[in-house]
Amino acid sequence: MDTNNQDIPYTPPRIGDDAPDFEALTTIGRIKFSEFAKDHWVILFSHPADFTPVCTTEMTGFAVREEEFTELGTKLIGLSIDSIHSHLAWINSVNKSMGILMKFPIIADLDMKVARLYGMIAPGESDTSAVRAVYFIDPKMKIKLIMHYPHNVGRNMDEIIRVLKAMQLSDKHKVVLPLDWQPGDKVVVPPPRSLEEMQEREKSDYEMVDFYLAKRDV
Ligand code: BEZ
Repeated sequence: MDTNNQDIPYTPPRIGDDAPDFEALTTIGRIKFSEFAKDHWVILFSHPADFTPVCTTEMTGFAVREEEFTELGTKLIGLSIDSIHSHLAWINSVNKSMGILMKFPIIADLDMKVARLYGMIAPGESDTSAVRAVYFIDPKMKIKLIMHYPHNVGRNMDEIIRVLKAMQLSDKHKVVLPLDWQPGDKVVVPPPRSLEEMQEREKSDYEMVDFYLAKRDV
């Protein structure tokens, strides 16, 4: 898909869509995204620019918690509309000043190919840099969740990890997660779809709020 040709209308992917594949230059070398992502959850996130304060707090936030993501079978990959030289200089500078090494790949998207492909550019915010986007992509290469934050507000790493755990738990146990769910909390059993299923519930040890809202431990 030639997303740089403004004459061709293009709708960026939404949740439930296949994650668009691409090749890109990154701080770990050239990658094909589908090969990088194979059999893993992936968090693809963009930041507006290297050497900016909020971005530095966010990107070091990912680096500090990278092991947690690895334990969740999840790979990280960042992106900004900066050159590979800028990325490397920033990584070096952050490592020297903060002692934190950003080891995950960061895409050098100078031609905005990937940013446009995913819809990371919001012209009302800036047409030369990406918003603070986070794409959660499952092992089947489906986009499961998209977050977009403006330039002036940083993201929340606890929330990123919470929703990742929630989606993984939902897939594994075929349950859904209520308002403010935190790991360890009870989960919601999907509502019954037949009279028989509804009556079965009466005999279960679920915590029943109503016939359609039942909770259980996992
Ligand atoms: C920042 O990361 O601090 C930042 C980046 C772009 C615009 C405003 C702030």
